[in-house]
Amino acid sequence: MPSAEEFIVELLGGVATIQDARHFFDELGNNSDFIAETNELSMAHRGVPAVFAGWSKIHYALTRILRPKVIVETGVFDGLSSACWLLALDKNDHGELVSIDLPATVAVIDSIHTSLPKGQEPGWIIADSLRARHRLLLGDARELLPPILSESPVDIFFHDSLHTEDHMLFEYRAAYEQMQADGLILSDDYRAYDSFSKFARGLGLETFVSYDGLAGLRKSSGMGRGTRKAIECRHREP
Ligand SMILES: C[S@@+](CC[C@H](N)C(=O)[O-])C[C@H]1O[C@@H](n2cnc3c(N)ncnc32)[C@H](O)[C@@H]1O
Repeated sequence: MPSAEEFIVELLGGVATIQDARHFFDELGNNSDFIAETNELSMAHRGVPAVFAGWSKIHYALTRILRPKVIVETGVFDGLSSACWLLALDKNDHGELVSIDLPATVAVIDSIHTSLPKGQEPGWIIADSLRARHRLLLGDARELLPPILSESPVDIFFHDSLHTEDHMLFEYRAAYEQMQADGLILSDDYRAYDSFSKFARGLGLETFVSYDGLAGLRKSSGMGRGTRKAIECRHREP
C-alpha cells in the first residue's frame, strides 16, 4: 500500500510532489482552531473526539492542490469528510461542496452500522463558520445525483453512501460521464463487491490508485493508451 503522500502523487500524475502533500497534511494537522471546534462538537454529540484518519488529510490536501470549483460527495453522516473538504475550500477562498445524504435516523444497512445522534441532521459536526460553501441535499443519491451532475461539470466526486454493487457503479458511472476531463473520482470502501475494479476495467484500466479503503482515478487516465500505461506503472492492485 502506498503512503497517503504517495497516493496523492500517483493519483495526480506528477502535478504534486510528496513535499506538497506533506505541506498540506501539516497545514490541516496544525489548524488547532478547526481541530478544537470539531472535537468540541464531537464530544457534545458522540462523547469522543473526532478521528482524523488518513483520508481526512487526503481530502484536504487534494482540495488545496487542485483548487476545485465543484466537489460532489454522497454520504455525509456526521460530516467529518464534508468538514475537511469545506475547510480546504475555505482556505482556497474558492469553490463549493455539494453533499447528498439519505439521513441515517436509523442505521442504513450497507452504508453505516450506527445512526445519527438523536435530533441531529447529517453534517452536524461541520462548524457554522464553514457552511457558506456547502449545499446539503437530503434524499436518495439515485434521485438527487443526476440533476446535480448536470448543473455544472464536477472537479472531484467522492462516493461514500450506499455500498452495494449496483449503487456504487451507478454513482461512479454517472459522475464520470459528467465530470471535467481531468476530474477525480474517489471512493471509500472501494473493495465492496469489487465495484471500483469493475468500474475501472469498464474504462479499459487495469489498475487504479488506492490507499487503505480509499480508491481514486483521474478521468484523464481513462482516455487514451499513453496515460493508461502511465497509471499501470504506478500501482498494481493486489
Ligand atoms: C459511511 S457514511 C458517510 C460517512 C462520511 N462520508 C464521513 O466520512 O464522515 C454513509 C452515509 O450514506 C448515507 N446513505 C445511505 N444510503 C444512501 C443513499 N442511497 N443516498 C444517499 N445517502 C445514503 C447514510 O445514511 C450515511 O449517512
